[in-house]
Amino acid sequence: MLQTARAEGWAVTLELASGQLSLNTEGMTRAATLELRPAAAIDSPLHSVIPLRHTDRSTYREDPVRSDLLESLVALNDSSNTSVFLFTHGQQSHKSLSDATIAATEYIIADTQMSHDSHRWFDKSWEELQRDKDGPFIDTSGAARLIRAAVKLMPPVPDRMLDDGWLTGTINSVPGSPVLGLITVRDLYSQTQSMQAGQLWQRMHLWATTQNVSMQPINQLPERVDRERQLGLGNVTEQWLSALTGTTDMKTTFVFRLGHPANRVFPSARRPVTDVLLA
Ligand SMILES: Cc1cc2nc3c(=O)[nH]c(=O)nc-3n(C[C@H](O)[C@H](O)[C@H](O)COP(=O)(O)O)c2cc1C
Repeated sequence: MLQTARAEGWAVTLELASGQLSLNTEGMTRAATLELRPAAAIDSPLHSVIPLRHTDRSTYREDPVRSDLLESLVALNDSSNTSVFLFTHGQQSHKSLSDATIAATEYIIADTQMSHDSHRWFDKSWEELQRDKDGPFIDTSGAARLIRAAVKLMPPVPDRMLDDGWLTGTINSVPGSPVLGLITVRDLYSQTQSMQAGQLWQRMHLWATTQNVSMQPINQLPERVDRERQLGLGNVTEQWLSALTGTTDMKTTFVFRLGHPANRVFPSARRPVTDVLLA
């Protein structure tokens, strides 16, 4: 949004919400306040790729991503509240993170409440997609054309099939990804730092798009951290992530994978701005 405002001739003052996030918040919460003033338009390479950026959930090519590209990606971090860790294929830490992400997927689909809540976000039929314009659908999965066509003709996909598809997709795509990465913050439940992590992810994803590099969030582990805390089950997964990064100062808030695209994948449904404006 900041990139677009500047390109459209607005100077932006951004104030991120402060305070602590609660694991039991329902409904909407204010994330940020933007103040716009007319100014000279400033276009940027990140702004021009906004229409091309989308999550790629399919498998990536096996060849490594050049180290100078990875260095440029990490250099997009502009805050001491956030940091980026990258693990390349072949490193033991890559395998450990991949195995733990698959185990976290199994954990989530075995947890009836978590599984149910995930399904509220998935679009289960073509009709639901047209109505809600949110969440992933078969078109964003990297599936072959015939499978995509068949799913659109079928009745809504049953929950069990969605869970199985998510697990299979994770097993097929994560272990072979050339790079796995983490975004960490100092305070896991600081609203400001969560927003800073989100801004960093968006900048990284847009920049990767300028380099024809695909990315996907794979946040099963941070979701498991939250669930263990919510249920009072201790901080086993949080400690495991600290051991992986070698620091307890920075906590993992976002996990992702990246690599060169191997398949044509479509963007998620887009909503017009008028659908999301409150006033
Ligand atoms: C905080 C956050 C976490 C997300 N985590 C995941 C994730 O773990 N797996 C996933 O497939 N998509 C995840 N997404 C959603 C997608 O990355 C993407 O934002 C959404 O599906 C819109 O699709 P698009 O990239 O085609 O615009 C997450 C999005 C946000 C904002």
